[in-house]
Amino acid sequence: MKIEFSKALEKMIDKDKENCRNMRGEFLLKLNVEGFPFSRHLSFDEDIYKETKAILPYYKKVVVLGIGGSALGTRMIYRLFKSKADKELIILDTTDPMIIEEALSEMIIEDTVFVSISKSGATMETAALTIYFIEHLQNVFGEVWKNRMIFITDPLSGDLRRYVEDNSLHSLHIPTELGGRYSVLSNVGLFPLYLAGIDIKAILSGARRYLKKIKDDKDITPFTLAGCNLAHYLKGKNILALFPYSGKMKLWGEWFIQLWGESLGKIDRKGINVGQTPIVAVGPTDQHSIIQLFTQGPNDKFVLFLDIENRGTDQDISLDLPYNSFSYLKGKTFSQLIDAELKGTRENLDQLGVATALLTMEELTEERIGELIIFSYIFTVYTAQLLGVDPFDQPGVEGGKKIMFKLLGRE
Ligand code: PA5
Repeated sequence: MKIEFSKALEKMIDKDKENCRNMRGEFLLKLNVEGFPFSRHLSFDEDIYKETKAILPYYKKVVVLGIGGSALGTRMIYRLFKSKADKELIILDTTDPMIIEEALSEMIIEDTVFVSISKSGATMETAALTIYFIEHLQNVFGEVWKNRMIFITDPLSGDLRRYVEDNSLHSLHIPTELGGRYSVLSNVGLFPLYLAGIDIKAILSGARRYLKKIKDDKDITPFTLAGCNLAHYLKGKNILALFPYSGKMKLWGEWFIQLWGESLGKIDRKGINVGQTPIVAVGPTDQHSIIQLFTQGPNDKFVLFLDIENRGTDQDISLDLPYNSFSYLKGKTFSQLIDAELKGTRENLDQLGVATALLTMEELTEERIGELIIFSYIFTVYTAQLLGVDPFDQPGVEGGKKIMFKLLGRE
């Protein structure tokens, strides 16, 4: 992972080097003393995965029933590497009857296995979908329905755990200390991805390698970025705009939005509402869309570009069409075009005084996604530390739930 800042930002970082170092020192101390839940669970038990898979009948499709942290990371990884998967994986994270109907119409129940995932074991959307599909399975398979659904939940608490134990159902654990949005590299994401045939070992090894680099002080990118972005947030950059130059990496943005939003949008120790709104734009598509707002709208954004150094493939444009608008394209490759588009957009924003940084991933592989996930976690947790909020709770989501439960008649 490499980072490059705009010139104005480079100057600021240079001035603030000492401060950045000290902050990083404090952070590492904390990391060593306490450790973070997400860094303590970067492994899986292959024997248990094999045994659990062996319980399932032959399947072509895996359906995950889960929402938020129990769904978004898995969706990101699966969609990125879906061409290498040997089974289809779909994620149902909604109560929208139209989407449920669509999923049902594309599902052959005999060829489908389900993974119901909920840390709390109480989330309404997951509970409703789980109950619905249990009934569906019971109607078709009777008692043996139990071999078609695996449950992933807290090892001790929650009604889902109680239901699993009371009925001797097949289950895996989510470590108690691991919060939803930090759990993609645990059973939550790894097991469904394993069922779909994704190379989870490579993802984990990338994650572990990157964490080691951080611990060994060989990569300070997330800290520098966090310090720099926060300095801008304090000067009114209320929006963090992720701008990956690849439609594929839009999924990283969707996953990151939950991580950043739920971790940082809080009331701080002084009682002040804090947080930076994350949004995602995609290059080059959004050069013909929201970029207008970035250039001439309010200057309230920190724009974080993401580039992929080696895209692993390329195409040439060799036909010469002798018109002004076309002929300059002869002899170019699509990589050259997207590079120029990114440079053009970034330089223009820099000239307009918009704060930008460019994060570069070497390539789009499972290892690098493991790395990017850890990078995103550390960037988020460190920003929370600087902001003075707890990145692991989400007290604000309860209010709406209370009203909803009342409407639905839950005690
Ligand atoms: O990050 C979080 O903790 C949340 O977004 C949860 O993942 C989400 O609310 C789903 O919770 P659960 O896994 O308990 O069903």
